[in-house]
Amino acid sequence: MAKKDLKRGLLITFEGAEGSGKSTQIKLLADYLTQRNFKVLVLREPGSTTFSEGIRKILLDKKNHFICEKVELLLYLAARAQLVKEKIIPALKEKTIILCDRFQDSTLVYQGCGLGLDKKMISMMGKFATGDIVPDLTFLLDIAAKEGLRRAGGSKDRIQGRSLTYHRRVRNGYLALARKYPKRIKVIQAKDISRTHDEIKKLLEEFLCH
Ligand code: TMP
Repeated sequence: MAKKDLKRGLLITFEGAEGSGKSTQIKLLADYLTQRNFKVLVLREPGSTTFSEGIRKILLDKKNHFICEKVELLLYLAARAQLVKEKIIPALKEKTIILCDRFQDSTLVYQGCGLGLDKKMISMMGKFATGDIVPDLTFLLDIAAKEGLRRAGGSKDRIQGRSLTYHRRVRNGYLALARKYPKRIKVIQAKDISRTHDEIKKLLEEFLCH
């Protein structure tokens, strides 16, 4: 991919269920783009600001099993609002390519499809939290819930520790979102690391050429 002058920054998000390999793919793409002299910023959600990393700890800590569903939603949105203000808006102004591990789609599927909170309400609150910033492109790394949980392995955090049925709702929610927004959300089978990376590069190239 040859470096083109970007007229503006880009927000590219990576979505997927547990164990879908998002962070590996983000690292590969960040290295690839950096080698081609693009300005790249890697972020993760919840996280990537001091405040949002603090919220991440609270949200993922198994000891906090008492957190109710509405508070869970509000905390994810609070972490996002801070990230948008502190990192995303300034980077977009600097014509940076932002590679963000999860964004608003995660909330729609984990808290909406997974927990059953009202999706219209989540969308409205998400717009408020982000100032209606929508990713330019989203890579959805698709994997069966059981296989993903097996790959994620190790000790499960507060969200990973939820039932297989919950994680299946998350996966199906993602696929439904991709059907709703086929131009923005590109579904990629999360199987082979280098084949997935190649597909991501190809889709990004197509996107940049339009
Ligand atoms: P990660 O492990 O992929 O970094 O994501 C953190 C966990 O938080 C993961 O289990 C998905 C979950 N999550 C939500 O439930 N809602 C959200 O809005 C986001 C961003 C993440």
